[in-house]
Amino acid sequence: MTAKTLLIVAHAPSPNTQKLAQAAFEGANHPDINLTVILKSPQDTQPEDVLAADALLLGTTENLAYMAGLTKDFFDRCYYPLLEQKQGLPFAVYIRAGHDGTGTKRAIKTITTGLRWEWIQEALVLKGEWQHDFIKQVEELAMTLSVGVEAGIY
Ligand SMILES: Cc1cc2nc3c(=O)[nH]c(=O)nc-3n(C[C@H](O)[C@H](O)[C@H](O)COP(=O)(O)O)c2cc1C
Repeated sequence: MTAKTLLIVAHAPSPNTQKLAQAAFEGANHPDINLTVILKSPQDTQPEDVLAADALLLGTTENLAYMAGLTKDFFDRCYYPLLEQKQGLPFAVYIRAGHDGTGTKRAIKTITTGLRWEWIQEALVLKGEWQHDFIKQVEELAMTLSVGVEAGIY
């Protein structure tokens, strides 16, 4: 059977957020999971990439109390091309925030509610000073999503 596809759209403007994107990729790519995992930056992601995906993991920073501009641009470009065709898409998000994350979480909730995507769990907000454990948390989130998608749970 053809493997399903998990698309990771990760905005990673700093060394720490690059580690998170890598952790997402590695967590989803567990050797026991038969899944195609694609990692892209939001600016490189086209509607076709999402149309071809069975699930989406989004990673963004919070800037100025909102999602990063490039993450917003991804939604701006992809919203209408996806609206009719990707309802029910299994979805998860991690947010790296210096101190808050609330505005980003709220905005992504609003947009994905419009798109009718299915959140598999609450947003993972990684806030405050950098903690090495964030890497593990993102890895686990990615693994949870990929296992569920492969097993047909989501
Ligand atoms: C211009 C700018 C605005 C920011 N605004 C916020 C903000 O509103 N809320 C917040 O929690 N963090 C904010 N941050 C912090 C970023 O979320 C944080 O630097 C980013 O996630 C990278 O994390 P790192 O320092 O661990 O690499 C801002 C950072 C920049 C550069």
